[in-house]
Amino acid sequence: MTTDAAAAFAAAFGDTPDGVWAAPGRINLIGEHTDYNEGYVLPAALPHATRVAARRRPDGVVRLYSAQGDGQVTSVVLDGRAPGSVPGWAAYPAGVFWALAEAGHAVGGADLAFSSDVPTGAGLSSSAALECATAIALDELYGLGLDAPGRALIAQRAENAFVGVPCGALDQMASSCCVEGHAFFLDTRTLIGRQVPLDLPAVGLTLLVVDTRVKHDLGDGAYAGLRAGCERAAELLGVPALRDVAAEELAAAEEKLPADLRPLLRHVVTEDQRVLDTVAALDAGDPRALGPILTAGHASLRDDYRISCPETDLAVATANAAGALGARMMGGGFGGSVLALVDSDRLEAVESAVHAAFAEAGYGAPHTFTATPAQGAHRVG
Ligand code: GLA
Repeated sequence: MTTDAAAAFAAAFGDTPDGVWAAPGRINLIGEHTDYNEGYVLPAALPHATRVAARRRPDGVVRLYSAQGDGQVTSVVLDGRAPGSVPGWAAYPAGVFWALAEAGHAVGGADLAFSSDVPTGAGLSSSAALECATAIALDELYGLGLDAPGRALIAQRAENAFVGVPCGALDQMASSCCVEGHAFFLDTRTLIGRQVPLDLPAVGLTLLVVDTRVKHDLGDGAYAGLRAGCERAAELLGVPALRDVAAEELAAAEEKLPADLRPLLRHVVTEDQRVLDTVAALDAGDPRALGPILTAGHASLRDDYRISCPETDLAVATANAAGALGARMMGGGFGGSVLALVDSDRLEAVESAVHAAFAEAGYGAPHTFTATPAQGAHRVG
């Protein structure tokens, strides 16, 4: 893939790049829709990544090319470009240039060629990988001196204000800050995190990802609507964010909310607790305890947050029936991927049960693979 990005660069720009950088997609063990409620998350980086081969340009021009795109080079003159002015995938890297300039960084033009094997629209943060690869390439090409969380916040700003998706910090913080062999326990209010060792194969366990290949679109308004509902609930409760409602206060807090906002509060408060319980189980050397927590997380997303769909529900139910310790949908919702915790010797049985169930239901074949925690954004060439 390093060579893919360099080869894409040569094909698009007829030259060699100054360097090649990579930023990964992510799984999220637990902590879904907690980030914009200033709560906890526990992602890990995937081996799947977006590579970018990049070279500085002396003028203010940005040229963008993707090996997975339509073969065209997108040229953007950034001066005066307003958010929303760059269509398609190129808006993500263009947004990073914009966000860096807006934050006062002296960043000039560049040629960038991307090559990615992060599945898109699968709840595995392909957008964040694209943004964070751009951010680290520009940071190092222009000597900006940012750190990993700083690059993540620039990437999030690009997505929020330039692309127009009101996401939280989970995906970009994961893609920038994760460390190989670890899950990243992050408090999204303080942005203070801790790397939690995660070597499941050593204890006979495997994380199975089922990409249902049902595409969601975070820009379609549902995500923004949920976020707005949470913010309204916090306002009615008189707290800065739903993170501030303690588990013991949940029942009393629900009483103060209209019926439509209660399930949102319930999900966020119980999900934050599930993150804390998961970290405690990992710290205590009891990773099998994660199984029921994952399944409870799925029920909460399905019944309270209501962002599951028949395909993710089927993947979770089938994996569990075939012997998984637990499973849940990940990401924004309305499709995407399911994460299952499986005894390694049950892996094949669980995988084939899911494939069979999808075939029987008449769904398209899912894409299944195992996940071992990989390294966050870094230079590769
Ligand atoms: C998407 C968003 C994240 C987060 C998750 C849900 O991936 O980009 O910020 O809100 O959904 O946990």
